[in-house]
Amino acid sequence: MKIAILPGDGIGPEIVAEAVRVLRALELPLEMETAPVGGAAYEAHGHPLPESTLKLAQAADAVLFGAVGDWKYDRLERPLRPEQAILGLRKHLGLFANLRPAICYPQLTHASSLKPELVAGLDILIVRELTGDIYFGQPRGRRTAPDGAFAGAPEAFDTMRYSRPEIERIAHVAFQAARKRGKKVTSVDKANVLETFQFWKDVVTEVHVQYPDVQLEHMYVDNAAMQLVKAPKAFDVIVTGNMFGDILSDEAAMLTGSIGMLPSASLDANNKGLYEPSHGSAPDIAGKGVANPLATILSAAMMLRYSLAQPEAADRIERAVQAVLAAGLRTGDIWSEGTTRVGTREMGDAVVAAITGKTITKS
Ligand code: IPM
Ligand code: MG
Repeated sequence: MKIAILPGDGIGPEIVAEAVRVLRALELPLEMETAPVGGAAYEAHGHPLPESTLKLAQAADAVLFGAVGDWKYDRLERPLRPEQAILGLRKHLGLFANLRPAICYPQLTHASSLKPELVAGLDILIVRELTGDIYFGQPRGRRTAPDGAFAGAPEAFDTMRYSRPEIERIAHVAFQAARKRGKKVTSVDKANVLETFQFWKDVVTEVHVQYPDVQLEHMYVDNAAMQLVKAPKAFDVIVTGNMFGDILSDEAAMLTGSIGMLPSASLDANNKGLYEPSHGSAPDIAGKGVANPLATILSAAMMLRYSLAQPEAADRIERAVQAVLAAGLRTGDIWSEGTTRVGTREMGDAVVAAITGKTITKS
């Protein structure tokens, strides 16, 4: 099993290093090869997604990705910015289905900014379409406004669009995921205003006919944003477009206490995938050894489950993470009174120890 390791920028290299150590501790026949991506690749090769990195990712069975981005690249022209690396990987690898679970671990209920009773036991799955929508729609750019009240003024524009097959395939992913969990899908749209999302709603409704055992509800995105903080446990699977999914998944992440805990999977039609923490590169804490590696470690578990057909190894990682939390170890982002504050490396050490059966000590 070949894994492309793309650590990226900011805290990326630190957290990915811990996930790699955890993978090694499983003693599976994994071949891991590392390549630069994002700002790191721009420094080394003059491009955020060099040909050699893309080739490695294409040849691998799965990709483990850290994070990209740093303020120091904000003034580069858009095609050279670090974010283009992850967008390019998604597009080139056809990773249209982004699964972002938001699970509130019992030990971290108090780390959420919501009341504990609202989030205790929370387990929702956001299925975000990842290769379409206003993120990739053409045409886009800057021009002189051709008409309207501001005709003749400089303007910028993007294009929101979805084709039927794109909506159908992501709807199938959502319904199939719901079948294995709470059997409910909430399709989030803005059909009251946008053509694109009236079409989205119609197509999702049609696909639903094939899943009579799954309940489907439709919700406008503004209401969904509100319901997520009002009664998040009412959701099971949320399916939505690229941009709404970007926003709602960050919101859902915060319900769980820390975005530092949340893994994600981005899958193609054959379950080949890219796995990355839901959080970003956090340049402010990069290199300090304080970042939480658990989202990346849990992303490695998702990789074993979805792309490498190693569900038992995935379980081992997830159980080890639970054990480490139960033992009271916390990085700064999830620390609270009465728990033990540890750094990135110590957290990785503890997960490795839990996997290899050694005891975890509290300090
Ligand atoms: C995410 C990120 C990316 C996105 C950025 C870095 C391009 O916010 O994965 O959610 O907008 O998709
Ligand atoms: Mg985002």
